[in-house]
Amino acid sequence: MRIRQKMYVVVCAISLLAVCCASWANTPKWFKNAVKTSNHQLLFMADQLKDVQGKAYFPRTLKADGSYVMAKVQDWTSGFYPGSLWLAYKLTGNEDLAKEARKYTNLLEEIQYYTGNHDVGFMMYCSYGNALRLKPEQKDTEILVNTSNSLCKRFNPEVGLIRSWDFGKWSYPVIIDNMMNLELLFWASGQTGNSKFHDIAIAHADKTLKNHFRENMTSYHVVSYSVPSGDVESKGTFQGYSDSSAWARGQSWGLYGYTMCYRFTKNPAYLDAACEIAHFIMENRPSNKDYIPYWDYNTPDIPNASRDASAAAITASALLELGEYIKDSKLSDSCIEYAENILKQLSSSDYLAKKSENKGFILKHSVGNFPGNSEIDVPLNYADYYYLEALTRYKERKKFN
Ligand code: GLY
Repeated sequence: MRIRQKMYVVVCAISLLAVCCASWANTPKWFKNAVKTSNHQLLFMADQLKDVQGKAYFPRTLKADGSYVMAKVQDWTSGFYPGSLWLAYKLTGNEDLAKEARKYTNLLEEIQYYTGNHDVGFMMYCSYGNALRLKPEQKDTEILVNTSNSLCKRFNPEVGLIRSWDFGKWSYPVIIDNMMNLELLFWASGQTGNSKFHDIAIAHADKTLKNHFRENMTSYHVVSYSVPSGDVESKGTFQGYSDSSAWARGQSWGLYGYTMCYRFTKNPAYLDAACEIAHFIMENRPSNKDYIPYWDYNTPDIPNASRDASAAAITASALLELGEYIKDSKLSDSCIEYAENILKQLSSSDYLAKKSENKGFILKHSVGNFPGNSEIDVPLNYADYYYLEALTRYKERKKFN
């Protein structure tokens, strides 16, 4: 190498280093602490799990005695721990996280043929989907396409929706959470060129928009349909306070779901829906300086009711995407600012675990199923997942290093 070329290489390297240092220096302290804590917690958890026996591999939450509740591969939450490891890898570049992420992702391989629930989108797109984006291996695409075909088996063309559950009193239950599984189908349509996946996703999103929402754009949790007519049979709740209440996580699933549907379709009806849901969430926060919702917007024990950090994390992630699509800059900024405020609050000691506490879960204070007296004021693996996803979206938007 000639002397001038060598000097050029050195100058470039110094400039790059200077840019990186400046960017890191501009990164807010709360964000750096959130990333460092997440990195530590997830690896601490991996270490705690080294000697897991049996087939329940995935940490879901904690029992009252502080021990893990472990989930089997068929559990709707099984993809979130591998997904969190992938997202933390994206945030930090730490190869130890990627190694654990791949190990836990591959444990889910059999789910590609699973048709027992509608949650395979959560389970596989959060695990294999992130794997494919960040450190792909040869089989990842095929596994995700097979999973999409399995999910389509739950679509009844006469009803025009994907069936959510096979248990309970309903003829054909569809829950608002199911909007989240459509992301896998949109991806599969783009990947394979097969419009079947896209058509099913659109049919589901359109009929859900028609029947799941009230006038104020809050949503019912469960809408059940008659078969084969496809007429609405009942509207109500399973995890909310009452049939007419606004269950907090349900509102977040709807917000995220329609924002994501707009990403793939550019259908303005989906964008409008997302904006109206966002409006309800932002207008109904606990107070001007408090962004973490109670577990249900209508629970009568407010202000003493439990908070749901998982709903807040899902909302933050969704708003960071929605803010990118809204043309009105004031409205767009208010979404981003709201998401930032959620993230700051979740990253405070009120919600963020101290290192090596919380058994390695990142966030405290979520609610799984209050009426079922299950998972009340506990860490939840999906709260951690959407918190990390929101941090990655925030980092990209702010262009932190
Ligand atoms: N999808 C179930 C829940 O949000 O609890």
